[in-house]
Amino acid sequence: MTLSTSPSRSSSSRTAKGPTADGIAAAPSAGVVFREGLGRLFSACWERRLIFIPSVLSGVAFALLQVLTSTVIGQVTQDVIVPSFESGNPVPGAVAAAGLLVAGIAVLRAVTVVGRRTLASVTQFHLIADYRLRLTRRLSELPLLWHRRQSTGTLLSTMYSDIEATFFAIAPFPFALATLAMLAYAVVVVAGIDPVLLLIMVVTVAILMALNMIFQAKAAPIALESQRLRAEVSEIAHESFDGAGVVKSLGREDAEEVRFVDAADRLRRNGIRLGYVRGWFDPVIDALPNVAILLVTLVGTWRIGQGALTTGQLVQVAYLFTLMALPLRSFGWVLGDLSRVVVGWRRTRRILTARDRLGYGTRTAPDTGRPARVEFQGVTLEYRDSHSATGRTRPDAVALHEVDLTADAETDGRVVAIVGATGSGKSTLTLLASRLLDPTDGRITLDGVDLRDLTADSLAESVALVLQQAFVFDSSVRDNVTLGENFSDADVRWALRIAQAEGFVDALPEGLDTVLGERGGSLSGGQRQRIALARALVRRPRLLVLDDATSACDPAVEAAILEGIHREITETTLLVVAYRKSTIAIASRVVFLENGRITATGSHAELLADVPAYRALVEAYDEAAIAHELLESERAELEDRAAAAASNERARAERERADAEIAERKRAERERAEREHGKREPSPDDPEVWVELAEERHRTDCDDEDRLMEER
Ligand SMILES: Nc1ncnc2c1ncn2[C@@H]1O[C@H](COP(=O)(O)OP(=O)(O)OP(=O)(O)O)[C@@H](O)[C@H]1O
Ligand SMILES: [Mg+2]
Repeated sequence: MTLSTSPSRSSSSRTAKGPTADGIAAAPSAGVVFREGLGRLFSACWERRLIFIPSVLSGVAFALLQVLTSTVIGQVTQDVIVPSFESGNPVPGAVAAAGLLVAGIAVLRAVTVVGRRTLASVTQFHLIADYRLRLTRRLSELPLLWHRRQSTGTLLSTMYSDIEATFFAIAPFPFALATLAMLAYAVVVVAGIDPVLLLIMVVTVAILMALNMIFQAKAAPIALESQRLRAEVSEIAHESFDGAGVVKSLGREDAEEVRFVDAADRLRRNGIRLGYVRGWFDPVIDALPNVAILLVTLVGTWRIGQGALTTGQLVQVAYLFTLMALPLRSFGWVLGDLSRVVVGWRRTRRILTARDRLGYGTRTAPDTGRPARVEFQGVTLEYRDSHSATGRTRPDAVALHEVDLTADAETDGRVVAIVGATGSGKSTLTLLASRLLDPTDGRITLDGVDLRDLTADSLAESVALVLQQAFVFDSSVRDNVTLGENFSDADVRWALRIAQAEGFVDALPEGLDTVLGERGGSLSGGQRQRIALARALVRRPRLLVLDDATSACDPAVEAAILEGIHREITETTLLVVAYRKSTIAIASRVVFLENGRITATGSHAELLADVPAYRALVEAYDEAAIAHELLESERAELEDRAAAAASNERARAERERADAEIAERKRAERERAEREHGKREPSPDDPEVWVELAEERHRTDCDDEDRLMEER
């Protein structure tokens, strides 16, 4: 999360983040908006044509009835009202019959309005739902690296506001199309009456169209900016809620507020700008048909004087103009919203057509009934075209270089530990092993089958990855473990027991049925990790990959977990990123990674004896572990305080604060240990250096401790 308060961050960096190739960063021209917007509306409506076409037909019926009304009123004026006035002898029966006819047409019109509006709404909401579903499917297909490049706020904003913007104009669209039919019919009717009045009509419609085009040209860039700012506001809000623990623990509430207010303010100003443009155009567009009616009346009276027109015909044309004012507006609504349609659609399409795809093969992993044999053959992984947190494109980074690695329970034992300093490529290796990434070069096989050839189901059955950040869903413990699959309670308990989670789950108010709350806010970090671990264990994968998955558990719990997995799950190969000596010691084989290359493999004892860099790193971790212990006891204290907090909300905030703080300090501690190890790597033959280093670390620990106490 970015805690920058700089107002300038937003537009430049966010725009940079959005792929300009998709054309979502540049405002489209009026012509493009017209073509692309109408094209989108037509093709969307075609997808729902069984509802949309009846809706348009209702609109056309309405439009024709509208023109018919004007014809009837013209006829009634000419044949009933004018003769009545001229003779001074009104015929009540004829007037009543004419009135009934007009009323009958009005009822029919009302029916068509109901039909059109209902069907148009049904079309619109179906399309919104259809595209949300497509987007959800696409998002679940896109690979992890793609997701890592996106901001959740932007995705949320596309899911809600961009899709709605795309289909917003569907509601008035049938009416606007029907207006075209009405226009054509009206042109025929007026052409049969008087060419001069026809000219007024055609010019009015042409001016109306031109005004709408100018409006679009002015509105499109503002609409584009509004959609972008909406995404930004959503992103900041999302980050603030998500990172509430960090924000609170680092006392950044005010900075976050400034950041949010800044973006919200720009959205407000942009909305007002659009309102301002609308404010100028709307009255003009509204007034135009009325000006035309006035003109028709004046010119028509002159034409009656010339004998080119009857009074009834003038009334008919003037009434037609009155009736057409609203439909012509609906045309304007659609045209005026086309810029939103185009912008919303481009943002939605960016995701729907994202090229990154992790395709699956057609093979299933052989059911050997034994732990999986995993083999990396010359695997290189280059992170291409990745974006850093600032939104800038990072240079391509090679994270793993031609890695050859075999984890085979028969020859290497069932537990393989991956050890390496920060950034050495451990997580990359675990992502590759669980096929969340594909190698740039080389291949990875599971029992001889390339991971890329496996079906999605076979992969999910065979391999499970547990990450450090455990995600917990807002549902019961049971659902969190089974994820809706058919596992018995006995299986769930078995998995929880091995993950050392059964004890605290039983202590929850409703045991397995306890709802954990959004993101498991009512659990500690270590408890969340253990639930996530049980989720993987219950599936009894043949390859289990743990990337720092027990980092928030204390060493005794971590050791118990690994020991349980080793003892009870005999059909699983365990690939574990390890930091603690006690964890590494469980492994039958250790792989030592340095700068993306495997520089040593063997047993822990062998590497300790033969590889000085390995020894230095593991020793550094051990020292860091002392500080971890201190932090753990602090965590316990903070959790006690959280438990004593009066309300659940406070308890949750306290817990999050404690988790964030401890995780941050642990990481810093580990990195400090690694840095020191890198800075002055002591020779094994030089015990004095070790003593000196240990003393120095002790001093820093004490300083840290004093500082922590003061902060408390
Ligand atoms: N998405 C990415 N885009 C570009 N580079 C990346 C990306 N993810 C990781 N890297 C780079 O690849 C290298 C290996 O990263 P990796 O996360 O695998 O290290 P690690 O050993 O797991 O580190 P840590 O101990 O801190 O978790 C690092 O230099 C890192 O900066
Ligand atoms: Mg990592």
